[in-house]
Amino acid sequence: MLKKLMLILLLLGFVLLAALFLFRKEKNSSIFSDPKITLGYYLFFDKNLSVNHSRSCASCHDPKLAFTDGYRSSVSTLGENLLHNAPSILNASSMLVYDWAHPNVTTLEHQMLRPLVGTTPVELGLHLHETSCYEYLEHDSMYQVWFKAAYPKETHWNRKRLQESIAAFEKNLRSTNSPYDAYIAGNQHALSDAAKRGMQLFFSTTLKCSSCHGGRMFSNASFTRNPDSVYFNIGLYNVQQRSLYPAYDNGIIQYSKRKEDDGKFKVPSLRNVALTAPYMHDGSIQTLEEVLELYARGGRLIASGPQAGDGRLNQNKHPFLTGFTLSESEKQNLLAFLNSLSDTTYLQQPWAQFPKYFLNRK
Ligand code: HEC
Ligand code: HEC
Repeated sequence: MLKKLMLILLLLGFVLLAALFLFRKEKNSSIFSDPKITLGYYLFFDKNLSVNHSRSCASCHDPKLAFTDGYRSSVSTLGENLLHNAPSILNASSMLVYDWAHPNVTTLEHQMLRPLVGTTPVELGLHLHETSCYEYLEHDSMYQVWFKAAYPKETHWNRKRLQESIAAFEKNLRSTNSPYDAYIAGNQHALSDAAKRGMQLFFSTTLKCSSCHGGRMFSNASFTRNPDSVYFNIGLYNVQQRSLYPAYDNGIIQYSKRKEDDGKFKVPSLRNVALTAPYMHDGSIQTLEEVLELYARGGRLIASGPQAGDGRLNQNKHPFLTGFTLSESEKQNLLAFLNSLSDTTYLQQPWAQFPKYFLNRK
């Protein structure tokens, strides 16, 4: 009798465990297992969030370009240029601080207020049609279904619910399935010999790349908010040889007002970097080859024009960036390593597909 009971209990435990495992797997793999994520998914791609129904979050964070837009600087719903290049938002939940030079923006919910309701410039312009936008969401049959599931006790949309849903979706954007990840997980053949040699260069004390592009996300911002470890001047500019970046876009000095913070921007993740050209906060570098030239030279030389100056001599540049010499094959190896950080498998995920629901609708 006792034996029988034990057996039943064991079986029951096994079934429970299996169910739990399956449920978790489903939860991880599908955007439709959590109604808030589902809402966020549709909202992220929905142009009706913008005041003239012409742009969505995905217009500037296109799944095909690792959730960037390929522009030097992004274009708002009213056709204005934003100051900055759109960063990838894959793995955004692994970052402790957001945007290129906003040290106070530490949550995704806070971050999205700028694209949603920011005014310098207007990006999506939600505040210019907020009531009618929520009316639209409340009348749309698809949103009705998921809203009821996500907020069973509520009847109305508001800004908080919008932020919550989009953030839930963003937290689901994970991409850590690159050849480099496979190599780290133990597959010796996942990286070419060139990429393996490039990896040694990347982590070497001569190049020091990993002292700023550190951690599993290749950005110190994934494990610290300490401004001294997250924001750096890498010698892109030295306007009039006065150790200045262009005055309209000079980094965290805007917040700290400390002279030595001029030109300091957040160190970006290098995951999927081969897919996210152009580069830097202002998109002013077109290719990874040119990025390597900048680091090898120890700063960028701009020979003429209003921004002329030698970035190598910028006094605020980080002391690690003294320059180095690479042979042509070492350069190719380093590039092979950077390319090995691309994970395109995420493109198969349901969350990377444009919602079919919007295609069949006016
Ligand atoms: C008009 C183009 C545009 C639109 C629309 C837009 N973004 Fe962005 N996004 C950017 C740019 C440019 C930046 C960098 C901003 C900066 O640092 O000044 C950015 C930064 C971000 C970041 C920070 C990433 C990081 O690691 O620093 C997140 C997250 C983000 N956007 C999410 C969103 C969401 C969610 C929406 C929709 C509500 C959205 N964006 C709409 C252009 C856009
Ligand atoms: C002292 C810190 C530091 C070191 C060392 C460093 N970087 Fe960077 N890196 C940064 C910062 C900060 C930015 C963004 C600068 C900006 O936009 O003004 C950046 C930008 C980049 C970008 C552009 C990414 C994008 O999405 O725009 C690449 C690629 C890059 N670094 C690769 C490297 C490589 C390769 C090395 C080693 C040779 C290296 N970095 C060393 C801090 C550093």
